[in-house]
Amino acid sequence: MSAQSSKRGKFIAFEGGEACGKSTQSKLLADLLDAVLTREPGGTVIGSHLRELALSPETVGLVPRAEALIMAADRAQHVAELVEPALAAGRHVVTDRFAGSSIAYQGYGRGLPVNEIRDLSLWATAGVWPDLIVLLDVGAEEADRRLGTERDRMESESAAFHAEVQAGFRAQALGEPERWVVVDGTGTVDEVANAVRNIVAERLQLSL
Ligand code: TMP
Repeated sequence: MSAQSSKRGKFIAFEGGEACGKSTQSKLLADLLDAVLTREPGGTVIGSHLRELALSPETVGLVPRAEALIMAADRAQHVAELVEPALAAGRHVVTDRFAGSSIAYQGYGRGLPVNEIRDLSLWATAGVWPDLIVLLDVGAEEADRRLGTERDRMESESAAFHAEVQAGFRAQALGEPERWVVVDGTGTVDEVANAVRNIVAERLQLSL
């Protein structure tokens, strides 16, 4: 076995509400770490079909439990096909959303039992979980301002729903401070990227 493959990679997830800058920051961090960059839902070909199903405004009448199962199916495929093989081969993986989003959106947002949503994700991933979760916090008003008028199924939800989601992310970060870190997402792209780099280097003991 080569030195590269003998050490498991680090798994880092970005989480946050709509338009918080996760996609930009995920890419910047993945470039910095030479990591595999991926996202949920939709990190695999099968997942891209599930993403379309879950987020299309044409999907009408999807019940919360079915929505939770679609997200869990996407995650199961994503971990088995892409995340776990990359980590096992010694690559770092940066994902734009993971189980924290299910807990925030389907748990806190839709009102499904948070512990059950967490257990569903643990089952879907066979226990694969991020080493570090970065919550990019921008606040509901700023997110609303950043979102255009063309919104997908989830972005079109009410302000009250998005407030619950935001509370759900903050509660997770508070409840598990050793795994989560909250970064203020309201600065410039460079300011946020610097904050993310410093915290990732410190928490995962990487020289960046
Ligand atoms: P985004 O990746 O472009 O932000 O969009 C993904 C959308 O899917 C976003 O509205 C959050 C939602 N989502 C869930 O509701 N549950 C989940 O488990 C995941 C991964 C995403």
